[in-house]
Amino acid sequence: MSAVVLRSVAELRAAVAPWRQAGETIGLVPTMGALHEGHLSLLRLAKAECHRAVATIFVNPSQFGANEDLSTYPRDEAADRKLLGGVEADLLFAPSVEEIYPPGFATTVSVARLTEQLCGPRRPGHFVGVATVVTKLLVQVLPDRAYFGEKDCQQRQGIRRLARGLDLPVMIRGGATIREPDGLALSSRNRYLTADERAKAAALPRLLREAARRLGGGRDAEPELGAVRKGLAEAGFTSIDYVTLADEAELQPLARAAARSRLFAAAWLGRTRLIDNWPVL
Ligand code: PAJ
Repeated sequence: MSAVVLRSVAELRAAVAPWRQAGETIGLVPTMGALHEGHLSLLRLAKAECHRAVATIFVNPSQFGANEDLSTYPRDEAADRKLLGGVEADLLFAPSVEEIYPPGFATTVSVARLTEQLCGPRRPGHFVGVATVVTKLLVQVLPDRAYFGEKDCQQRQGIRRLARGLDLPVMIRGGATIREPDGLALSSRNRYLTADERAKAAALPRLLREAARRLGGGRDAEPELGAVRKGLAEAGFTSIDYVTLADEAELQPLARAAARSRLFAAAWLGRTRLIDNWPVL
């Protein structure tokens, strides 16, 4: 069965209020659609931990840069609804751009420091767009828990920080990165890859995994990061935004692995930007 779709904040609030009044807990999984196993794994987690699971699909214009892929971002609501039915999502909120950003909209939310690392400098305005829309969705749904994937580790960390900073009464939960058999992290943007690019893409997680193992042994980061950059170029990546060792909490770059450090990378295959990260144990 396909999930029920609501388009307005008023309908959404009317649907969710009786659940809360009945003492049921609500889990929220925000997405931009073109759903895959990564999204569905978060919904299964929400269903396992909460009485109700709400999915949102909103391709948020404010988090795309001027030269990014807003107009070509994959959209397939009919297929998404079927997938949501399969994981027994209780409802889908899929608002229009006007519903989220009505005329006169002038309020933004920003999380300092964390969002200035890694993807921050490469995607000016991106995290303000994410923080603003996620804040709105949290206030609209008022979930007990909201679920974010480890694949977008910086995003998840920024959202944790924003929930704490604004005293939002929600628990931010994480879900593991779901990968293809060759290691490539699932992403809606993988649909852009040509067959040739797709074959090359698996080098990203492989190089991160191998370097993470060596870094876990206590080696200096810079030579290992250099080896990953070289490996990506040799594998056919056309440009590299960053390969960085950083601590998971503050995302500050590290010269050597410490407790809770992680290897982060963003690189391009033609017109497709891939990101991934790997824990250093
Ligand atoms: P989107 O890219 O659709 O991702 C929605 C959620 O799915 C995010 O929490 C993301 O981390 C998670 N996700 C994506 N790929 C995953 C994978 N392979 N394994 C596990 N989880 C995965 O991230 C966004 O949308 C937007 O920025 C959003 C938070 C919805 C705000 O607009």
